[in-house]
Amino acid sequence: MAAFGPAGSLSTQRILIIAVPTLLLLIFVISAFHTGSVTAPLTAPIEAIKNGYHGIGESTDTGRRPAGFGGPESLSYGFSDMLYELYKPIKVPVTAKSYKDQRGKEFDVGGREIWKEPLGKDVLVIDLDTRKPDGKNEVFNKDKMDWETVKASGSGLLGVSHVNHFIYSQIHGYDYKFFHAKSMEPSHHNTWIKPHVLQQMIRDYKFVVFIDADAIIQHLEVPLEFLFNRWNISTNTSIAMPIDTQQIFEDGNNISLDSKGKIVLNSGVVILQNLPYTHEMMTAWTECTTEKRYKGCGDWKQKWSHEQRAFSEYIRYDFNPDGNNIVEIPCNDANGYPGLKGKAGVQDDCQGEFMRHYTLDKNAAKTSVGNAVMQSMGDLLQANWAKNHGNLLIEE
Ligand SMILES: *[C@@H]1O[C@H](CO)[C@@H](O)[C@H](O)[C@H]1NC(C)=O
Ligand SMILES: *[C@@H]1O[C@H](CO)[C@@H](O)[C@H](O)[C@H]1NC(C)=O
Ligand SMILES: *[C@@H]1O[C@H](CO)[C@@H](O)[C@H](O)[C@H]1NC(C)=O
Repeated sequence: MAAFGPAGSLSTQRILIIAVPTLLLLIFVISAFHTGSVTAPLTAPIEAIKNGYHGIGESTDTGRRPAGFGGPESLSYGFSDMLYELYKPIKVPVTAKSYKDQRGKEFDVGGREIWKEPLGKDVLVIDLDTRKPDGKNEVFNKDKMDWETVKASGSGLLGVSHVNHFIYSQIHGYDYKFFHAKSMEPSHHNTWIKPHVLQQMIRDYKFVVFIDADAIIQHLEVPLEFLFNRWNISTNTSIAMPIDTQQIFEDGNNISLDSKGKIVLNSGVVILQNLPYTHEMMTAWTECTTEKRYKGCGDWKQKWSHEQRAFSEYIRYDFNPDGNNIVEIPCNDANGYPGLKGKAGVQDDCQGEFMRHYTLDKNAAKTSVGNAVMQSMGDLLQANWAKNHGNLLIEE
């Protein structure tokens, strides 16, 4: 400041000499960001994310842009920023006391307000697999995907759920990664990638939320913070997973119970919080099959249900000193789906109200992704219609 002397001593010419290159540099920087990956951060929307939820009442259809976006038409939002903005009119506030779904079912948080601020980029939503949906008619392939004929099986299923998990993460300003893991065969079944990869990823975040390829988020407008409050995930909680559905095979084998007769937790949804204790627990889980700590854990290297059973058989009994280090999410909220009961001996009628886990009907996952997107689009259209029908409707 001092270099310019007192205000007013700067000639118009000198101001122009400084301002023009600065403006050009600014335009260059902004467009460089814009041409980057779809998730490349843009400063202004990140600020908007930090500032949190803007409320249903706020006008969102004026074409108004955050400060810094007044430039030429080509300087628009990145894809992620657009999703974040688009859903603002219907996003449920993180501190909402309850949520009513499209069928009128109401879900409350039990009066808890543990998480009051949007966690934004402190949350990583992660897809994790040894496969990648980059084959023919799959989402990472460079050729145009034909959604109608996409197969919701094998790596195709990963592409289908990627659409759901990615869109959801961007709506709420969370980070998203697709982790393509190295195979662990033949020593371990590949589902054993979960403990060590999730432990690796939690180092850089406050929360990591893993959702299986056959698990679909139902209500795109409901943020994780609301669900954390509902599920009583506290500042001390290291891990949360849904309770499995009870399944009894024809031979009477109670497949979803551990050896103590307690129903297992389903590793189709894993929520980790970055606490020192979490790392201790995840190390014990990762190293379980070495049998240094848990004799007999080696049995679960290949035998179903692998890392899932190992967690419920050993880890959960050893790593829950305060009773809330491990949170068991109700089955009805984050496991099962309508119609699962009765199939292959499944006893419980868990609806997967917030996250449906299509263990026995992978094809239904695709329908579910479409429904979740169209439901939220419908909500947005209705919100827009309610406000703007005066401009859109002609009554004869
Ligand atoms: C929620 O967790 C806290 C500990 O963090 C516990 O004291 C409380 O009883 C739990 N509430 C419910 C309804 O489970
Ligand atoms: C399976 O376990 C449940 C709960 O412990 C028990 O009620 C049921 O009798 C068991 N079924 C069989 C066939 O063992
Ligand atoms: C949280 O963890 C600390 C350290 O283990 C413990 O002292 C405290 O009682 C815990 N709080 C609750 C509410 O469980």
